[in-house]
Amino acid sequence: MSSEIAISTHGLTKDFGGGNGLFDLDLEIEAGEVFGFLGPNGAGKSTTMRLLLDLIGPTRGSANLLGLDSRADSLAVRRRVGFLPGDFQLYPKLTGEEVLDYLADLRGGVDAAVRDALADRFRAELDRPIAELSTGNRQKVGLIQAFMHEPELLILDEPIAGLDPLVQQSFHSLLREVTDAGRTVFLSSHTLSEVERVADRVAILRSGRLMVVDSLSNLRSIAVQRLEVGFAGDVPATAAIEALPGVREARRHGSHMDVSFAGSADPLVKALAAYDVSSLRSHEDDLEEIFLSYYRGGEER
Ligand SMILES: Nc1ncnc2c1ncn2[C@@H]1O[C@H](COP(=O)(O)OP(=O)(O)OP(=O)(O)O)[C@@H](O)[C@H]1O
Ligand SMILES: [Mg+2]
Repeated sequence: MSSEIAISTHGLTKDFGGGNGLFDLDLEIEAGEVFGFLGPNGAGKSTTMRLLLDLIGPTRGSANLLGLDSRADSLAVRRRVGFLPGDFQLYPKLTGEEVLDYLADLRGGVDAAVRDALADRFRAELDRPIAELSTGNRQKVGLIQAFMHEPELLILDEPIAGLDPLVQQSFHSLLREVTDAGRTVFLSSHTLSEVERVADRVAILRSGRLMVVDSLSNLRSIAVQRLEVGFAGDVPATAAIEALPGVREARRHGSHMDVSFAGSADPLVKALAAYDVSSLRSHEDDLEEIFLSYYRGGEER
C-alpha cells in the first residue's frame, strides 16, 4: 500500500439542500484500524459511504481510498473495497447463493473456500430467495459479499444492527481477524455500545457535520453512563451518592435510583456495596449526551 492512511476525505460535501447532506468532512482513517462512524438518523453516515464508493458525486471536496481518488479511480477502488450498503436488497428473486455467484463472477471469481467459511460462520441461508429472508439473514448475505474477496478495506453501513447476539459475536471475531491481517474497517452505527467492543476510534456525526473524533477509550472515559439501581432494603440518600467522584446526578424513584456518572464506576459500586442491591440496569448511551459531556470536558481541561 502506498501509505498508512486507508481513507482520507478533504472538505467532502454533499449538499441536498435544506441543510441536509454532508458538509466539509475532513477525516483520516488509518490502515489496520476499526473505525466507528456514529450518528443519529439522517446524520449523513450513508451519504458519506456512498460518496466514498462513488455511488453519488460530491458537491465539492474529495476522498482518497487506499491511495486512489474516489472518483477518478472508482473502479479500482471498488475492486479493492468490500461494501455493505445500509439496505442490502440486491436481486430479491435470486437465492443468496445465486447472488453471491453473480457478484463473485463480476469480481472475476473469488476463493470458494473463503466464501464457504463465511457462510458457515454466519450460518447463512443461501438456498432461499433474498426476498424471503428475514432482515438479519439478508444482512448475512450482504456481509458475505462484502468480505468474500478479502478486500483491504471494508466499508460497512450498519452491519451490526440486524444481527442477533450470537451472530454479532461471529462478526466481532471476523473483524479482529481482518484487522490482525492489517486490513481496515470503516463501519457505521447509531450507538456507541454497538461498536464498543470492536472500534479503535470513533467519529460522531450530527446534521451532516463531524462533531467528535477520538479513541474509544477516551470517549468512554468522558461519556456519561446511566445506571438504574434497585434496592431491596434501605435506599441511600441522593445527596450522598451525588457527592461521590464522577457522579453527575442521582434521582430516587421509590426503591430505585437513577444515577448518571462519568469515568470509573468504582466509587459508585463501592458505595452501593453497603446496601442490599436487588437489581442493576445500565442504559444505552445517548450520543447527544456523549458529545455534550465531551465539550463540557473540553472546557474544563
Ligand atoms: N438522495 C437524496 N436526496 C435528498 N436528500 C437526501 C438524499 N439522500 C439522503 N438525503 C438526506 O441527507 C441526510 C443524511 O442522510 P443519510 O442517509 O446519509 O443519513 P444516515 O446518517 O445514514 O441516517 P440513518 O441512520 O437513518 O441511516 C438526511 O437528511 C437525508 O434526508
Ligand atoms: Mg444510513
